[in-house]
Amino acid sequence: MKNLSILREQTLKAIEDAADLTVLEAIRVNALGKQGEISLLMKKLGTLDPQERREQGQHLNELRILVTESLGRRKSILENQSLEERLATEKIDVTLPQCPQPLGTIHPLSQVMYEVIQIFKKLGFAVAEGPNIEDDEHNFTALNVPLDHPARLEQDTFYLPQSPNGITMLLRTQTSPVQIRTLKTNKPPIRIIVPGRVFRSDSDATHTPNFHQMEGLLIDKDIHMGHLKGCLITFCKEFFGMDDLPVRFRPAFFPFTEPSVEIDIGCKRTGQDMKIGKGTDWLEILGAGMVHPNVFRNCGLDPEEHQGFAFGMGLERLAMLKYGMPDLRAFYECDIRWLRHYGFSVFDALSEEILR
Ligand code: PHE
Repeated sequence: MKNLSILREQTLKAIEDAADLTVLEAIRVNALGKQGEISLLMKKLGTLDPQERREQGQHLNELRILVTESLGRRKSILENQSLEERLATEKIDVTLPQCPQPLGTIHPLSQVMYEVIQIFKKLGFAVAEGPNIEDDEHNFTALNVPLDHPARLEQDTFYLPQSPNGITMLLRTQTSPVQIRTLKTNKPPIRIIVPGRVFRSDSDATHTPNFHQMEGLLIDKDIHMGHLKGCLITFCKEFFGMDDLPVRFRPAFFPFTEPSVEIDIGCKRTGQDMKIGKGTDWLEILGAGMVHPNVFRNCGLDPEEHQGFAFGMGLERLAMLKYGMPDLRAFYECDIRWLRHYGFSVFDALSEEILR
């Protein structure tokens, strides 16, 4: 009994005096740990006679509870103290000059791709994609360009070395092969736009061997030229932000559309200057047409049952026209001065995305 009250005084005093959490933990282990003094006494209870065991057990239990509570109280006091100390000593100097991080810009090409997608999204189109390395079948044959067709030569194709399986592979010259991939794997109605890289062996101030197109394809029942016109006039006016933009449809030829058109927008030239809008001149910006019956047949669809239209446009050209950029080659030169000048704010794009 005597032992117990001494043990109690000593342990409670030690807890009271514990200066930090490490010391406190050591006290806990000494008292209540597996080999702790209180634990060992509890183990010994079994050797006592019943009367003594009951009394001693009760005292020991009370002591254990007392010590546990006391440890808890001291622990929270010590924790608070160390927090207070840190709050008092740690300071953030808000006047310290920061290291400015240069902020990048959105490349005009990405910006224009994004703007075009936004417009067609509102018209119900979804984005689709296809591979840059295509086979001859998707890039030409299924698009109604037979082997001996002169259009094959016109597109200055980069061919890959002949593969052992005899399939001719190439870098796609247009995004139109994605029309074939979509028609073969999806059931109409279809409404897709396809942004992507295309490649042609061509290089001067207005041509680079790699450039970007946006393809469009809409397939449903009873679709006619009026739908094509309505859709593309809406696009031109929205993209250039002009309600009264003149839009002209000129007969043209593409093997995979019939009839085919090229679409011009109005512009005005004064000397070197060119302004988009009402004027006496025209600028070509799009190729389009009603999907050729052979394209439907090549994809296992009945042209009597389905109709639709397709269109394609060069994204660099759209960017140059909308934002007044004179030289196509600068798009790929990664000149930081050009990127800063013509690039777009990351924050504008982000906030638009969030507000949408
Ligand atoms: N693929 C054509 C080109 O690259 C553009 C086009 C697409 C024309 C779809 C008509 C329909 O010139």
